[in-house]
Amino acid sequence: MTGTDLIALKPTGTPLDAAERELRLAEPGFGRFFTDHMVTITWDAGQGWHDAQLVPYAPLSMDPAVMVLHYGQAIFEGLKAYRQPDGGIATFRPEENARRFQRSARRLAMPELPEELFLASLQALISQDQDWVPSGAEKSLYLRPLMFSTEVGLGVRPSSSYLYVLIASPAGAYFPRGLKPVTVWLSEEYSRAAPGGTGEAKCAGNYAASLVAQAQAADQGCDQVVWLDAGEHRWVEEMGGMNLYFVRGSGDTASIVTPTLTGSLLAGVTRDSLLTLAGDLGYVASADRISVDDWRDGNASGEITEVFACGTAAVITPVGAVKSASHEWTIGDGETGPVTARLRKALLDIQTGAAPDMHGWVHPLTVTI
Ligand code: COI
Repeated sequence: MTGTDLIALKPTGTPLDAAERELRLAEPGFGRFFTDHMVTITWDAGQGWHDAQLVPYAPLSMDPAVMVLHYGQAIFEGLKAYRQPDGGIATFRPEENARRFQRSARRLAMPELPEELFLASLQALISQDQDWVPSGAEKSLYLRPLMFSTEVGLGVRPSSSYLYVLIASPAGAYFPRGLKPVTVWLSEEYSRAAPGGTGEAKCAGNYAASLVAQAQAADQGCDQVVWLDAGEHRWVEEMGGMNLYFVRGSGDTASIVTPTLTGSLLAGVTRDSLLTLAGDLGYVASADRISVDDWRDGNASGEITEVFACGTAAVITPVGAVKSASHEWTIGDGETGPVTARLRKALLDIQTGAAPDMHGWVHPLTVTI
């Protein structure tokens, strides 16, 4: 099955000039530039999914009473396409994003996009805009699938129509400071998610609700917010929009542990991949509950040697220091630790084709046009 079997191709006659594109690929930043095309697929109660098409990237026009602007049925995904050593292009575990997109849709009472259509949309857009996939360290094409409600009306109920859109944006390092360790603020005032809430879904509202805590972190001189559980503000959950890992010990006997998925955490694809990859590198990897006290005490005793956050956009980001209303501590020497650096390189090597893919994670693109 190829993207073009399912998606009608209606490309632009006026793509961006190649020299201008190369300028953008040289310094892409994150989410600043977009490729020449997008894919849209429509759903309505009568027809289900229909009208799948690749069209020129363009603004969408909306009625001000469209339900998404009022009640927020909006979900998204994030994944990357990497240039491979032979010049080809591959994505990383895209079927995991397809499945999570379906889970997010279910939680927000939205229709599920079939995995086949999700993958076909990626295939069609990357094939069409393949010249937009940069090469070079830390560079990729970030793919952003999203879906939102499109029915016009103010009644509070699930919309009877939706639009799926896939856009793509060349990306460099996610954090402007590159790979320098981040300083985190433990938020005891705000919660990202509560039991029974939407924490497990990748929905727009979770990110909207995070912004005031992120601003508070910045006021405290920190780069990122760390979320604790909503009930006790005791158990560590996530950092900003990323999962967390704690490294215990060092060298060959190091182990890594990530907070257990309780329903209020996002099940990150990078988080999941690292549970396996760490084992390949000889580290014991597990999921467990970790309290703020465990973190502070483990850091003081030297048991916790490194901490890092992980996600698609930034891959792995070291955490160098922690601050809360009552405490402050530095992790190790505050610099990127060896286990963090080794895992980061091992994962990126698989994604970029520099190391063999032992787990069938790399999904090469079959160019069809
Ligand atoms: C990721 O790490 O991929 C994220 O989800 C962050 C994104 C919202 C930019």
